[in-house]
Amino acid sequence: MTANAIQKTNPDMKDAILQVDHLSMKFGGLIAIGDLSFQAKRGEITALIGPNGAGKTTVFNCITGFYKPSEGMITLNRADGSSYLLERLPNHEIPARAKVARTFQNIRLFSGMTVLENLLVAQHNKLMKASGYTILGLFGFSGYRKASAESVELAKYWLEKADLVDRADDPAGDLPYGAQRRLEIARAMCTGPELLCLDEPAAGLNPKESLALNSLLMDIKKTSGTSILLIEHDMSVVMQISDHVVVLEYGRKISDGSPQSVRTDPRVIAAYLGVDDEEVEAVLTEVGDEDVIEQLDTGPDSAHGPGTSSSYLAGPVSDTIGHSQGERVTVSKGASKAAQYDTRANSAPRKPSERLTAKPAGKSPKPAAAKSPTGKPRGGRK
Ligand SMILES: Nc1ncnc2c1ncn2[C@@H]1O[C@H](COP(=O)(O)OP(=O)(O)O)[C@@H](O)[C@H]1O
Ligand SMILES: [Mg+2]
Repeated sequence: MTANAIQKTNPDMKDAILQVDHLSMKFGGLIAIGDLSFQAKRGEITALIGPNGAGKTTVFNCITGFYKPSEGMITLNRADGSSYLLERLPNHEIPARAKVARTFQNIRLFSGMTVLENLLVAQHNKLMKASGYTILGLFGFSGYRKASAESVELAKYWLEKADLVDRADDPAGDLPYGAQRRLEIARAMCTGPELLCLDEPAAGLNPKESLALNSLLMDIKKTSGTSILLIEHDMSVVMQISDHVVVLEYGRKISDGSPQSVRTDPRVIAAYLGVDDEEVEAVLTEVGDEDVIEQLDTGPDSAHGPGTSSSYLAGPVSDTIGHSQGERVTVSKGASKAAQYDTRANSAPRKPSERLTAKPAGKSPKPAAAKSPTGKPRGGRK
């Protein structure tokens, strides 16, 4: 590990297990994440939400070392006071030293192994360390036998927590979908993480499975001391279990706060549900081309986004307007709905009652959001 990957804890950050500062991730000309900053507090469940393609998984990939960010800093503050700059840490040290574990959007289990074996394999590193990496260590030292017994105990503990005891000897691949999701989480918990990153654990679950998942996550929060960073589409899950919500749209943060404040944030409603294009067009025409172009070209709210670099973001704001006949200004499909909301709120002040109301359906393009902030899933299992 590079020495500069370890930092002294900044006292301001002591409540934050994770601090993301000005994170950007570029893929060629596409900016999947643009100047993103947020915090996840210790002991809390922080939800990262946003329409498909918003950059949520990319954030996870940067945190867990799958991608090296183009810019920015990701600081992980452990309970013992040590801090790690994750973007500088070698990949394999992120789970081992920084104590970050993750699950994937698409389940990744050893499907031919039993449920119990999956939980034991997760502890392989710990066991190898106890063996001293020697054959003598495996058979001779009591340290290894002790570690081995502890591993079995830990596996049993998480089998019970995840309600999988009855299926312990079944191949993981034979489990129903919801049980596989819980097994993935149990397996991650067997590595003793301080931060658990879950990528859409509720996607495709039926209501009963979703309830079981919520219970497991609440139990982890209450009893293990592990903080959770959760990517989730299902707002019913987000509302029920998260303490804090960060909302992304096209790689930019458009809202950050309590579940209730985010749920009622018009920018979020616009991003998820779309706004009515006819009404957008009417307002834009009222205001006039040049003003509109200028306002859209100034990019997103600087408090929430990258400002000048916004034109390179996925779904560039400045590419979202085009001229057609006469004074008509059209807003192309895929435009940032939060930016549209801002533009309209700024350019056409009205009484609150006359303000934009987001519409759940209709012809507005949606950035393929699988679920609405208030509703149920639109998409299925991936
Ligand atoms: N490895 C990659 N190469 C190129 N583009 C990528 C890569 N990973 C993600 N992207 C792009 O980054 C954007 C954000 O993707 P992603 O983080 O998967 O979104 P989300 O998880 O919010 O649905 C998308 O436009 C996606 O196509
Ligand atoms: Mg994703």
